[in-house]
Amino acid sequence: MKILGIETSCDETSAAVVLSDGRNFEVKSNIVSSQIKIHAKYGGVVPEVAARIHVEAILPVVEAALGKDGAKKIDAVAVAAGPGLITSLLVGNEVARILSYLWKKPLIGVNHMEAHIYANWLLNQKINFPVLCLVVSGGHTELILMRGHGKYEVIGETRDDAAGECFDKTAKILGLGYPGGPAIAAEAAKFTVQSSWFIEKLPRPMMATPDFDFSFSGLKTAVLYAARDLKNKYKMEEIIPAMAYEIQEAIVDVLIAKTMKAAKKYNVKTVMLAGGVSANKRLRERFVEAMKKELPGVEWSVPPFEYCTDNAAMVAAAGYFHAAKKDFTSWQKLKVDPNWEL
Ligand SMILES: Nc1ncnc2c1ncn2[C@@H]1O[C@H](COP(=O)(O)OP(=O)(O)OP(=O)(O)O)[C@@H](O)[C@H]1O
Ligand SMILES: [Mg+2]
Repeated sequence: MKILGIETSCDETSAAVVLSDGRNFEVKSNIVSSQIKIHAKYGGVVPEVAARIHVEAILPVVEAALGKDGAKKIDAVAVAAGPGLITSLLVGNEVARILSYLWKKPLIGVNHMEAHIYANWLLNQKINFPVLCLVVSGGHTELILMRGHGKYEVIGETRDDAAGECFDKTAKILGLGYPGGPAIAAEAAKFTVQSSWFIEKLPRPMMATPDFDFSFSGLKTAVLYAARDLKNKYKMEEIIPAMAYEIQEAIVDVLIAKTMKAAKKYNVKTVMLAGGVSANKRLRERFVEAMKKELPGVEWSVPPFEYCTDNAAMVAAAGYFHAAKKDFTSWQKLKVDPNWEL
């Protein structure tokens, strides 16, 4: 089955063609047009601007994705229908509805977080259920238990900011620009001197609580105060790598601790990462280390780098599993839902 995926939930306009028989996924094309440079000027995504750029980009992006493969052989159209920015979502969803209508092809409205999870299937490794997935992105931090395809149970989530949001906001405090995750990671990589004056100063919020929830807003406030105090004693450029290192360690410590605890409690067969923050090298390294040490014999999966942040290949992969069950919607019925929860 060949699926056209479309993704416009935030600030990436993306279209992809993915071929699958359910065992193997072949990404025929995955075009991503990012608006990051435009929103960087404002320090974050401006919804009105994002929607206008999606309108300009969507047809060339869809055409480029189809070009290599031809539209005629598409079996179904899958589109991220939420959660996300409503005006951004509407652009991709209107295009998907029109293509479904014109081509007389079935349509699938995919949950954007489900799509992030299904980026793991693009690796073509066998994934056994039950699965525990740590979904860490710009807007979400959730531990999701999957007992089968399409069966989701949120066993923990952030009570305030998402991990990606924490990277973005603390980067802003340090003057590192948007998006903050890659900027913090790049600065943290420069930190080599293990000086003790700063390490361990930041809190690890909710790391030891018995539930599987997270909280990152206090960490952001701690960074704000630490930066203010340290600025009086040091030049900012001297302390940024150390602060970035400590921010990254604090976030990763909490994410890994809760994920391992949940994986043990629910006795899962596979543990995986998903979402934009799963592109973080330190998180990936620490996750693999922890899996080997604490859960030997349990399988693990980390999505390929290019499928961590928003892209349409992951939407098509998730769409495949709906299509296989003939779980379609019609162009008349497809509705976007900016707050769609799994
Ligand atoms: N290398 C990295 N290290 C840490 N964070 C990263 C890295 N690369 C990207 N991120 C973070 O990932 C987030 C973007 O991920 P993604 O595109 O999945 O989020 P989103 O689509 O805006 O949110 P959601 O998926 O919750 O709707 C940003 O917060 C960004 O800072
Ligand atoms: Mg996303």
